[in-house]
Amino acid sequence: MATEPEPQSVLSPLTTAAIFLVLTVEEGGEDTARDLLADLGGLTRAIGFGAPDGRLSCVAGIGSDAWDRLFDHPRPAGLHPFTPLQGPRHRAVSTPGDLLFHLRATRLDLCFALAGQIMGRLRGAVALQDEVQGFKYLDVRDLLGFVDGTENPVGPAAREAVLVGAEDPAHAGGSYVIVQKYLHDLDGWNALPVEAQERIIGRTKATNIERDEDDSHVALNTVTGPDGEEQDILRDNMPFGSPGRGEFGTYFIGYSRTPDVTEQMLRNMFLGTSAAPHDRILDFSTALTGTLFYAPSADFLDDLPDAPGSGTAADAAAAPAPASVPAQAPARPAPDGSLGIGNLNRSTPS
Ligand code: HEM
Repeated sequence: MATEPEPQSVLSPLTTAAIFLVLTVEEGGEDTARDLLADLGGLTRAIGFGAPDGRLSCVAGIGSDAWDRLFDHPRPAGLHPFTPLQGPRHRAVSTPGDLLFHLRATRLDLCFALAGQIMGRLRGAVALQDEVQGFKYLDVRDLLGFVDGTENPVGPAAREAVLVGAEDPAHAGGSYVIVQKYLHDLDGWNALPVEAQERIIGRTKATNIERDEDDSHVALNTVTGPDGEEQDILRDNMPFGSPGRGEFGTYFIGYSRTPDVTEQMLRNMFLGTSAAPHDRILDFSTALTGTLFYAPSADFLDDLPDAPGSGTAADAAAAPAPASVPAQAPARPAPDGSLGIGNLNRSTPS
């Protein structure tokens, strides 16, 4: 029986520190990005090994636009750019991102050290789109003051909810990731009576008990499949901010087996349902970013598929070189994946 591909550490338990890096790959930076992805497991072990209690882990995600630039491999079935949403009151923006690194540990210094290694390796090959350092706040609360993460699936249910399976065999063991960086209007939120806050969230604030509301954040994010069964995602939201600058936020990150589930939740929140015109959490929280990634299995990263065009280049190298092309010319793929003769000659693309 074939063994199941080993996932990246998407299922690792909640930690107390995280760094989120969202990057775009510069033209010509693809090989550097591929080298880093192939070495990511080794780098994580190198830094984490000496601090086993730190539980350092890193998940890498690939954005839709980057896939065909990085790999000569079928695309994951659900990989597409984040779908922006314009609701009656609130907007979910779609922002650029070719690579996501989700670093987690019980100590921020471990995340910091690994992020430094990653960025050191990628310098010059990527542009930074966003970097957020998140922390666990009090007893696992978000900065709105509510316990966040309670209804996350655990154990086999979590695996079932987040890992791609037989529906896309070339990508089994992978997972889709959606991230959004929210900034809160904390003054406005704190001006609400606790009772009103609880109705918006759908849980009690002090005791974290679910409330029976049909238009709360919890209700809008309770999504069911065709057979009425609940469809889960795995969230690892992190508070972040800067009291000095008056900046208070939640970095939302949700892993799922198919992006459809998280996207349905987002539609409920931003476009509303029959029970609510929108999620009132959005009256106090603005999404500044929104990006969808695919996190391949760890096995995929350890044994990366060829770079696009490399097969064609190898075939061409094996064939007798036409007289007009120098036999030793470096076989560099054109941006469209074809073997552009202009590229072989390093001429400027038209
Ligand atoms: C401002 C950003 C957000 C904050 C502060 C926030 C906070 C919370 C809190 C406090 C809960 C209740 C406890 C729990 O089960 O975790 C919750 C539940 C949940 N949230 Fe969010 N959330 C945010 C954004 C989102 C987004 C963007 C999604 C999905 C796209 C989402 C999906 C969920 C789900 C699935 C639940 C569990 C529902 C259930 O009880 O079955 N959240 N969130």
